[in-house]
Amino acid sequence: MQIKSAEFVISNSDVAKCPQENIPEYAFIGRSNVGKSSLINSLLQRKSLAKTSGRPGKTQLINHFKINNNWFLVDLPGYGYAKVSKKQKKTFQKFITNYFSQRKQLIMAFVLVDCRHEPQPIDLDFINWLGMNAIPFALVFTKADKLKPNALNKNVAHYLDVLSQDWEELPPYFITSSTQHHGREELLAYIEQINQSL
Ligand code: GTP
Ligand code: MG
Repeated sequence: MQIKSAEFVISNSDVAKCPQENIPEYAFIGRSNVGKSSLINSLLQRKSLAKTSGRPGKTQLINHFKINNNWFLVDLPGYGYAKVSKKQKKTFQKFITNYFSQRKQLIMAFVLVDCRHEPQPIDLDFINWLGMNAIPFALVFTKADKLKPNALNKNVAHYLDVLSQDWEELPPYFITSSTQHHGREELLAYIEQINQSL
C-alpha cells in the first residue's frame, strides 16, 4: 500500500471522544518503550508524526492518525498494571481497556513485543485479555535490528511456542525494525488486504 496522506486527527483519554467517522481502525499497543510510535512513523515514512522517546512513557493518550483519507492508525500509551484494590489486584489502565472493548471501528490490535526479551507476563496477560474479549490481534516483534538472525529466529520460535500453550491457533505475526524499515511492506500489505475485504 502506498501512503498518500497521513495526518494527526486528535488525542484524548476517553474512547467516547474518539473520532466518530466510521472507517476501519488499527491500534498499536504494547509495553512502554517497545517501539509503537517509532513503528507508526516507519510505516508512514514520517520522521516524527508520532512522538517517540528513549524514555518510557512518551505516549500518554489515544492518538488518531488518518491515513489515505480512509482508515485510522492509533498510537496508544504503553500498558502497565494499575493497582486498583486493597488486595492490589492488578488490572490494565481503564481508558485502554475501554478503548479496546468499546471502539466499534477497531478492526485489529497489533500487539508489539521486543524481540530480545522472553515472553513477559504483562504481554501474555494482555493477549489473553484480548482473546477473552474476542478482539482480533496480530503479534509484532520490534527492534529486529538489535539481534543477529539466528537469535532472532530462536526468540520468535520460542515466543510462538509459549503462546501455543494457551492458544490452539497462533496469531499472524510480523518481524519489524523501525530503524531499518524492516517488515513495513508486509504490515502495510496486511492492512490493505483487510481494508479491501471489508
Ligand atoms: P511509549 O510511548 O513510551 O509507550 O513508547 P513507544 O512504544 O511508543 O516507543 P518509542 O517508539 O517511543 O521508542 C522507544 C525507544 O526505542 C526509542 O529510543 C526508539 O528510538 C527506540 N526504537 C524503537 N523502535 C526501534 C527499532 O526498531 N530499532 C531500534 N534499534 N530502536 C528502536
Ligand atoms: Mg509512544
